[in-house]
Amino acid sequence: MSISILGAGNVGMALGRAFVRSGESVVFGVPEPAKYAAAVAGLGDAARVTGTAAAIAASEVVVLAVPYDAVAAIAASVPDWQGRILVDATNPLAPGLAGLSVGTTTSAAEQLAGQAHGARVVKAFNTTGAENMADARYPDGRPFMPVCGDDPEARRQVLALAEAIGFDAVDLGPLSAARYLEPFAMTWIHLAIRQGYGRRFAFGVLRRD
Ligand SMILES: NC(=O)c1ccc[n+]([C@@H]2O[C@H](COP(=O)([O-])OP(=O)(O)OC[C@H]3O[C@@H](n4cnc5c(N)ncnc54)[C@H](OP(=O)(O)O)[C@@H]3O)[C@@H](O)[C@H]2O)c1
Repeated sequence: MSISILGAGNVGMALGRAFVRSGESVVFGVPEPAKYAAAVAGLGDAARVTGTAAAIAASEVVVLAVPYDAVAAIAASVPDWQGRILVDATNPLAPGLAGLSVGTTTSAAEQLAGQAHGARVVKAFNTTGAENMADARYPDGRPFMPVCGDDPEARRQVLALAEAIGFDAVDLGPLSAARYLEPFAMTWIHLAIRQGYGRRFAFGVLRRD
């Protein structure tokens, strides 16, 4: 079974590289496949690139790694997602990283679930930098990867994918928890960019027995 990734930029390539390394096959979907042919070829035989619609059709798990303003049209482009797991890695960033354009009483992920008919939407891979998705190894433990969604089986599958690429994947329950995960992404972005912390860090969870 393959995983489709819509978008082959920072996040798409990082996740694609990590999924291939963990033994999965990846199908990238982008508006201009030729533009990404060389980069995808660099991931080896387990990755290929095609158009957006063909990539959606190719897999039961589809990761959205596109700019937020492309999300609604992609959701509406499929009349019935037929139970596909739609993993939302996007963040509804306001221009200039000024904040979020959606939030507090709803979330981009919940809006997506209303637009992508028949999809099982799971929010994941939005709260840390792409570099951490490409390589999640840290000397002091595994980076935190919160995951939420209304379908327990879809959530379980995405939690397993996140674990397989090296994250400490934590089940946050229903999709409405995306109201917390999208601002949490801004915490990473704010620290990395506005506060000049750089991109070589990740959040982790400390636990007592
Ligand atoms: N960068 C990060 O560290 C990070 C971390 C967590 C979450 N995010 C979120 O993840 C999303 C992607 O960020 P990014 O940094 O990877 O962006 P990016 O580098 O700009 O890549 C976006 C990709 O989406 C493609 N694309 C645009 N419209 C599309 C469509 N309709 N169908 C399929 N593909 C389409 C673009 O193709 P073209 O090149 O042809 O336009 C490009 O390959 C954003 O929502 C961002 O907020 C980013």
